[in-house]
Amino acid sequence: MQLKPFLLDAWLDQYEENVEFNLAASTGPTWTANDILALADERTRDRFLNHDLVYSHPAGADSLREAIAEMQCVPVEAVQILTGASEALLAVMWLAAEPGANVIIPLPGFTTFSALPESLGLETRFYRVRPENGYGIDPDEIKRLTDSKTKFILVNSPHNPTGATMGDQEMEALHDFTAERGIQLVSDEVYHPIYHGRQTKSAARLPHATVVADLSKAFSIAGVRTGWMIEHDAERRQQYWTARAYFSISNTTPGEILSEIAIRKRDVVLGRTQAAATRNLKLLERFMAEHRDILGWIPPQGGMTAFPWLVSGENARPFCQAATERGILLAPGDCFDTPSHFRLGFAAAGDDFSAALDRFAAFVKSWSRKMVTA
Ligand SMILES: Cc1ncc(COP(=O)(O)O)c(C=O)c1O
Repeated sequence: MQLKPFLLDAWLDQYEENVEFNLAASTGPTWTANDILALADERTRDRFLNHDLVYSHPAGADSLREAIAEMQCVPVEAVQILTGASEALLAVMWLAAEPGANVIIPLPGFTTFSALPESLGLETRFYRVRPENGYGIDPDEIKRLTDSKTKFILVNSPHNPTGATMGDQEMEALHDFTAERGIQLVSDEVYHPIYHGRQTKSAARLPHATVVADLSKAFSIAGVRTGWMIEHDAERRQQYWTARAYFSISNTTPGEILSEIAIRKRDVVLGRTQAAATRNLKLLERFMAEHRDILGWIPPQGGMTAFPWLVSGENARPFCQAATERGILLAPGDCFDTPSHFRLGFAAAGDDFSAALDRFAAFVKSWSRKMVTA
């Protein structure tokens, strides 16, 4: 079995720690454990400090599952906790891996979507999230890729890296299409509910959908490593429970308590990400308008990342490499199989984003001068 290199994480791991302005990250502003504990009442803080460091339940702590069920408006039995959305995706792919089967995923997309099924011998079929159609996700293109061997269709809305979203009616139509054909519909919603245009609903309301979600992106507390699935099908749920018991047994107990606090105080936690994303996206819009001769883009409809491109059409990796030397970290588009693009995260820098854009503007100017003289 072969796993292809994880180019994005290799790039981030190389530069993230020492760079002055991190515009490659896809989260919102950072929280400390102390910030999260400060949102809790005395009793919960005491529970956190004095709880036993033992295994938790494979399905997740009861009180955390209850908090998620309440937020997602689903029965508590439908909630399976996992170690990040990453483990949820692993469980989905693992159980889909049958000889001759295929899966339908977005391009560009989060590398795990293709790397895991490819390593498990599944055929990967890609639908495109194209700038030519305004980074729309086209349900008809998705449907045309299916056949009797299709195990699942994966939709990631808001989409990493483009910020594209799929409307509620389109999602419902796709749900009905998959339900009729016995194809699983997997909805990766780690950037929900951060939106910049129309708001869309979680697919947790759809009886045949499998939702993958986490606290890493919209909640921006990736260090707790909490992910979850909403699964209404009891048979599949049992399989996911078994997979998670083999993969990692349970989440960490400190992480589960911090997660529960963040979910119960989601108005504050999500509110902070949305405020930073909204404020910084306005700054980014101005920046992109000022640099339209060098950079093209389509503004994101949701999430905390945009996926601009170099209008010259050249590979953006040297551009991203040179930017790191000026203290700006971007993510090269080849990490998403789209080399002339780069991913720009606009929420993680929080209040430093304006200063980051000033530095980025100086870099773009020097880059374009170099291109003219080359
Ligand atoms: C679309 C998408 N899904 C899932 C994940 C996995 O996140 P985590 O394992 O931190 O929950 C990521 C991380 O970047 C992502 O972008």
